[in-house]
Amino acid sequence: MKLFLIVATVIVSLFSQLPILQSSAAETVDPKVLFEKKCKTCHSTSRAKSLNQTREEWTKTVMKCKERKNSNITDEEAKIIIDYLTKTYGKK
Ligand code: HEC
Repeated sequence: MKLFLIVATVIVSLFSQLPILQSSAAETVDPKVLFEKKCKTCHSTSRAKSLNQTREEWTKTVMKCKERKNSNITDEEAKIIIDYLTKTYGKK
């Protein structure tokens, strides 16, 4: 009986953690909103929108701006934005 209680508690606590894990970072972030928010602090987003680049080129562009002073862009955000830009403004 005691063992059953322990097992049940562990299972319940595992399941109750799941929504927390799922709602973290990437899942809830809209890449477009993130791009608009992070990339227009220094210049207009049309700078990026006027380009069509491969994933490598977008990585270079985003990393270059990410490394600038006070860019306020994290590694994870950069990854999401690169994905978004490659899909939306990829080289045709
Ligand atoms: C900290 C300020 C800052 C942030 C944040 C920033 N940029 Fe920039 N960006 C610059 C500067 C400075 C230049 C180059 C100077 C110029 O040409 O006016 C530039 C230039 C660019 C260019 C022109 C092409 C090139 O490579 O020079 C593109 C495209 C660009 N940024 C895209 C982005 C994207 C996409 C983001 C979001 C991930 C972003 N920028 C965020 C400062 C920033």
